[in-house]
Amino acid sequence: MANTVLIGLQWGDEGKGKIIDVLASRADVVVRFQGGNNAGHTVEIGDRKFVLHLIPSGMLRPDSLCVIGNGLVANPVAILDELSELREKGIDIRNRLLISDRVQLIFEYHCMYDGMREGQLGAGKIGTTKRGIGPAYADKAARCGIRAADLRNPAVLKERFHAEGTRYNELFKAAGADLLDLDAEWVKLEATAAELAPMVTDTTLFLNRSIKEGKEILFEGAQGTWLDIDFGSYPFVTSSNTTSGGACTGTGVPPTSIDAVVGVLKAYTTRVGSGPFPTELDNAEGEALRQKGGEFGATTGRPRRCGWFDAVASRYAIMINGVTGIALMKMDVLDDLETLKICTAYEIDGKVVEDMPADADMLSRVKPVYEEIEGWCEDTTAITSYDDLPAKAKAYIARLMELVEGTPQIISVGPRRAQTFEV
Ligand code: GDP
Ligand code: IMO
Ligand code: MG
Repeated sequence: MANTVLIGLQWGDEGKGKIIDVLASRADVVVRFQGGNNAGHTVEIGDRKFVLHLIPSGMLRPDSLCVIGNGLVANPVAILDELSELREKGIDIRNRLLISDRVQLIFEYHCMYDGMREGQLGAGKIGTTKRGIGPAYADKAARCGIRAADLRNPAVLKERFHAEGTRYNELFKAAGADLLDLDAEWVKLEATAAELAPMVTDTTLFLNRSIKEGKEILFEGAQGTWLDIDFGSYPFVTSSNTTSGGACTGTGVPPTSIDAVVGVLKAYTTRVGSGPFPTELDNAEGEALRQKGGEFGATTGRPRRCGWFDAVASRYAIMINGVTGIALMKMDVLDDLETLKICTAYEIDGKVVEDMPADADMLSRVKPVYEEIEGWCEDTTAITSYDDLPAKAKAYIARLMELVEGTPQIISVGPRRAQTFEV
């Protein structure tokens, strides 16, 4: 498998967790490189369903070691909670997680600030997960963040936490919001820090040494390309680089050590939170996709907005990620539809455009140009090889790949491990 980066090519929830789990069977190490517990990656193994938020999905493969890379913003309390949840479900987590000493920490005041800011934005809100992601990355850039290295030094951590917490409490006070009880919060944090400290290490050294020893690394992306802080529909984005370049800056593994980029693409489109969504179906057709696809947020439970496949956005996403192979997900969700639509271009202010515009305002004025294609109207959920797919399903895949200039690698026809095959 060599060293592979896996990223989402749409607005998140493409099915990354499932494909990470499939590819992790061959990986020695699985590393997350950006985001935080805003992610919700679902893995179904037999009748059991796991949703991972911050811990790499490789934790479900007993032979994989998992790493939280420097590019994340990690809430220490959320790490421990997720580890104990996995332990309670029978997963052996012992000595299987390393945390970068450079990772930025999320504290309760970041979550409170995230919620307060969303409230202030009113109708213009981003629709964040309120997990403190934006404020923690803002502190990183403002050079006042607290990093995991400090978990090993309680005296320093205490002083820095109180100084930063006081600064946030002043902001809350000025806004008439509730304050954080720093002393009570510290009691929780001190115990958490003691438990996590043994996992904190220089993961950049670890990863580069592992590569030298011939081990295979799988880089687990979170969110999706159109939520990227630089390339997404700004400001309706998350606060990290979700695209493949983030795998290098978020781990300290150089681009020359990356061999492949797998892009995960849903056979239609979904989005959670606010912001433009050109192919959105705000009608009964969208509702039908939501119900059949179980399109409800894995982190917040919010109904996902649903729409047709967008070849304009997907082609651009494949370009900026340097995708070498595509995992096409949730083909089965389209099984009953007699006619499918694919967006092949955008009409903006009367002009036909074939590339994704940078401007969110422009994107919100898009009228999609659709091409219709016949549906296959057959159950695909028990199919186990590409050759056995209905001819019309193969034609849909071929047309998508032609439009997005991509190479199909994996097809998925259901949430389970077995409902996956290579092309
Ligand atoms: P991620 O954030 O990209 O990991 O995706 P999520 O886990 O948030 O959402 C994907 C959802 O689709 C999960 O509930 C998966 O179990 C489910 N899923 C993944 N692949 C397939 C598929 O091929 N067909 C169907 N019906 N469901 C799938
Ligand atoms: P996975 O990894 C879908 C969205 C939020 C919001 C925006 C900013 O499961 O694909 P944030 O809390 O990050 O500041 O919110 O980004 N968002 C996601 N949408 N899947 C995700 O993760 C997401 N993580 C964040 O809904 O619109
Ligand atoms: Mg998700």
